[in-house]
Amino acid sequence: MKKPRISVIGVGYVGLCTAVGLASKGYSVLACDVDEQKISKINQGIPPFHEPGLQEKLSESIKKGNLKGVVGQTDQVIEETDLTFVAVGTPSKPDGSIDLKYIESAACNIGKALKQKDSYHVTIIKSTVVPGTTQNIVKPLLEKESKKTCGVDFGLCMNPEFLRQGSAFQDTLNADRVVIGAYDKQSGDTLEDLYKDFYSAHTPPIIRTTLSTAELIKYASNAMLATKISFINTIANICEQIPGADVKVVATAMGLDKRIGPLFLDAGLGYGGSCFPKDVKALIACSKKLGYDPELLDSVEQVNKTQPLKAVKFCKEQLGKLEGKNIAILGLAFKPDTDDMREARVIPIINQLLKEGANVTAYDPVAMPIAKTIFDNKISYATSALKCLKNADSCIIVTEWEEFKKLTPEDFTKNMKQPILIDGRRMFNPETFKTKMQFVALGLGK
Ligand SMILES: NC(=O)c1ccc[n+]([C@@H]2O[C@H](COP(=O)([O-])OP(=O)(O)OC[C@H]3O[C@@H](n4cnc5c(N)ncnc54)[C@H](O)[C@@H]3O)[C@@H](O)[C@H]2O)c1
Repeated sequence: MKKPRISVIGVGYVGLCTAVGLASKGYSVLACDVDEQKISKINQGIPPFHEPGLQEKLSESIKKGNLKGVVGQTDQVIEETDLTFVAVGTPSKPDGSIDLKYIESAACNIGKALKQKDSYHVTIIKSTVVPGTTQNIVKPLLEKESKKTCGVDFGLCMNPEFLRQGSAFQDTLNADRVVIGAYDKQSGDTLEDLYKDFYSAHTPPIIRTTLSTAELIKYASNAMLATKISFINTIANICEQIPGADVKVVATAMGLDKRIGPLFLDAGLGYGGSCFPKDVKALIACSKKLGYDPELLDSVEQVNKTQPLKAVKFCKEQLGKLEGKNIAILGLAFKPDTDDMREARVIPIINQLLKEGANVTAYDPVAMPIAKTIFDNKISYATSALKCLKNADSCIIVTEWEEFKKLTPEDFTKNMKQPILIDGRRMFNPETFKTKMQFVALGLGK
């Protein structure tokens, strides 16, 4: 089979991993973005964000000529390719509903380009969009601008992305499933053929469905994962009221039940990142607009809002007033192995600490440059975990980076003014730490 030529519009986390994944398997890929700086980095083989495994394959693909970054110029990339993945951002509006301005702008540009093109082309929406968007917004824009008919002159699919930041590139190469929502059979068949060729003998289950069901599968999956997190955090909060109870043991035992499973049962300071918070909010807003009030999801969100502030409450219980106290924060990224701080739980924690007059010093292995754009000089930045602990009255573990797991009780007792450790991610063994310092862990009964 002759490999189709591919373009990707919007090369952030999702778009770039898709583009590099395809290019690394020999497809010819054009990566298109409106952000000039991003494209310039990509063309030098430098990923614009931290993602394990991406750097090597990106520079290899650029060197081999399989991947090329292009600024804007949608007409050129549509003309020169057969399939286009759209992976632009879909942020939240202030009321929590989805902002489709980037999707609309990309659809208009693609429509205009399709007008000039003679051969068949399939547009694939990979961005997370609320049910009805591809059918009711993207398709009409493509038809209006191209003056052509969807399902006849060009194809349209909705193909949600399930990658996880921190292992995004590996997830692109090893998906659990592929969901293809198709406007018509030919569009769906074209995309299915691409995936079968891409994954070859390791093709995961492929679910063929309608555009709207594909859109909902993405939201339902993220809402389920967010629910599991808020659920186990609720159990953690109950554990804290029961002497001798430990949420870690509860979760391990629960996870052995095949109906429940062990994943996403780690109690902590809540979920963050660019997806769960925004997608839960968008699903709530979409559902309410359709006339159904999803009370369960409202509660999931509410738990996630209060959970990070528990770290501040624990600090206050140990120190009394926070005014003038030095608080060390270990971990800024919303999860390990990424520098992404979008909706990171550390943001409300630091804001509250500052509001109460504490002096904050923070350290993260990769997210410091991004943290500086958020907190500027309102906090201090340490160059290592140990330097962060120097003279601290209390330390809060916010992100469970592998390098923090190596810290010993002595690292805390020797460096801190008062060794008070708040383990917000249940990284450390309470038995080892409790005898050496004041140790407070989430979900541990007093
Ligand atoms: N990040 C994740 O883990 C993840 C996982 C699954 C799904 N998603 C979804 O995928 C989509 C993209 O997410 P992301 O995290 O990669 O976003 P991102 O913000 O990192 O990247 C989006 C990119 O689109 C570009 N862009 C915007 N308008 C454009 C246009 N008209 N033409 C060309 N480029 C344009 C931006 O410059 C940016 O580089 C979102 O809908 C998100 O919800 C994200």
